[in-house]
Amino acid sequence: MTDKYEDEVIQEEDHENKDENRRGPEKFCSLCRRSERQAGRMIDLPNNIHICSDCMQRSFDTMNQQMSSGKFNYNDIFNMPGVSMVDLGSFQNQMSQQQSAPKKKKEEKHKPVLDLKKIPAPHKIKAALDEYVIGQDYAKKVMSVAVYNHYKRVATDTMDEIEIEKSNMLMIGPTGSGKTYLVKTLARLLDVPLAIADATSLTEAGYIGDDIESVVSKLLAAADNDVEKAEHGIIFIDEIDKIAKKKNTNQRDVSGEAVQQGMLKLLEGSEVEVPVGANSKNAMVPLTTVNTRNILFICGGAFPDLENIIKERLNKQASIGFYADLKDKYDNDPHILEKVTVDDIKSFGMIPEFIGRLPIIFTLDGLSEDMLVKILMEPKNAILKQYQKLLALDEVKLEFDEGALHAIAAKAMEKKTGARALRAILEEYMLDIMYEIPKDDNIGQVVITREYIEGNGGPKILLRGQEIPLLETAQ
Ligand SMILES: Nc1ncnc2c1ncn2[C@@H]1O[C@H](COP(=O)(O)OP(=O)(O)O)[C@@H](O)[C@H]1O
Ligand SMILES: [Mg+2]
Repeated sequence: MTDKYEDEVIQEEDHENKDENRRGPEKFCSLCRRSERQAGRMIDLPNNIHICSDCMQRSFDTMNQQMSSGKFNYNDIFNMPGVSMVDLGSFQNQMSQQQSAPKKKKEEKHKPVLDLKKIPAPHKIKAALDEYVIGQDYAKKVMSVAVYNHYKRVATDTMDEIEIEKSNMLMIGPTGSGKTYLVKTLARLLDVPLAIADATSLTEAGYIGDDIESVVSKLLAAADNDVEKAEHGIIFIDEIDKIAKKKNTNQRDVSGEAVQQGMLKLLEGSEVEVPVGANSKNAMVPLTTVNTRNILFICGGAFPDLENIIKERLNKQASIGFYADLKDKYDNDPHILEKVTVDDIKSFGMIPEFIGRLPIIFTLDGLSEDMLVKILMEPKNAILKQYQKLLALDEVKLEFDEGALHAIAAKAMEKKTGARALRAILEEYMLDIMYEIPKDDNIGQVVITREYIEGNGGPKILLRGQEIPLLETAQ
């Protein structure tokens, strides 16, 4: 018997005890004779027997010990008058009823921001994304429309001659530009299960690594093993560029081209047998069938070097004939990635059948310093807001002046990991603040300045009653 099992019983009993306390007389533990007031929660057994949680624990411990030493004897444990007559069968019945009870309560709890039953219009989906994701307008727009169409297709479910194509997506964008974040936010807003898999860990079935179908069992787990829910979920496959066809190898490419091949059926829609409650198939785990026809697949990757492929193509076109152009015209174009075509992705090493099953291809912009500043303070759960809230609990106002925000963003730009660097940088500077402030109750406000971030000054500390008005930038 595990601790969890016991805990649930105790919790449930706790409810009943509260009722009992109001109505009936006080209970006494049948083993140690302490009252409920002394011993705490009681576990009720049939025949008006109560056991306190201490004695229950002791009983189980003894049972475990004796079982492991091979001399298990019920009478050793339940040697109190009346206790040995306990009908263990009914005790278990009682427990299994109580066990299934709490699950129902959970389901009623939260409402999604966007209700899939009334499929939200694209502009509503985008507006919801806008609250969390800064910039990337084009990507948000494409995703909103694709998601809208996808769930409309799922809802109509007609299989007549005009079958609506699946809206699987391929997103291309530099690291830290918000690919994973976009998908996570989308799934959360729609309240659909999401599985995130890393393409680098996938290999062809039978080789070391996760086989491709394991992503579906991840989704099933995210859907609490509810097959129907999983079939409306989203699977995000990250680092998809890492399964590009390897050039110049004569070995079998088990983690590149073969994985792409293996994914074709999944992307299109097929029945997959997946283990329930585990991520590998073996004889001990029951299997269930999940149909991937209505699962939305989103693949994402940074595709380094893709820019060069695009540039090369554009330069070749530009140097031909009448439209001959300057050779280096595209060399410093920050929006070069937007000009990507299916052919470029093929040259990168994705097989045509694979790209064919991802009809929606779009790119994310690299983040600029201004966007990083906005990311610091604007999203609903912005990092600055989190720190402000933390300090507000100590009744201290935290502000950042404009210069400080730009200095943080500039530092983050240097690291070239997109928005990911922001938190690490901020944490470094906030450590001292979070350490020093609680020491002194008189401090009412802290203003982080550019000088502090750049290392030639300190933050402004203001005592209570001397606070300066809120800066516009950090509200
Ligand atoms: N456009 C954005 N708006 C708001 N936050 C962002 C944005 N891009 C990135 N972030 C932040 O940076 C973190 C890392 O981004 P992530 O989505 O993991 O990058 P990647 O594109 O490499 O998957 C996210 O958790 C999020 O907090
Ligand atoms: Mg990512």
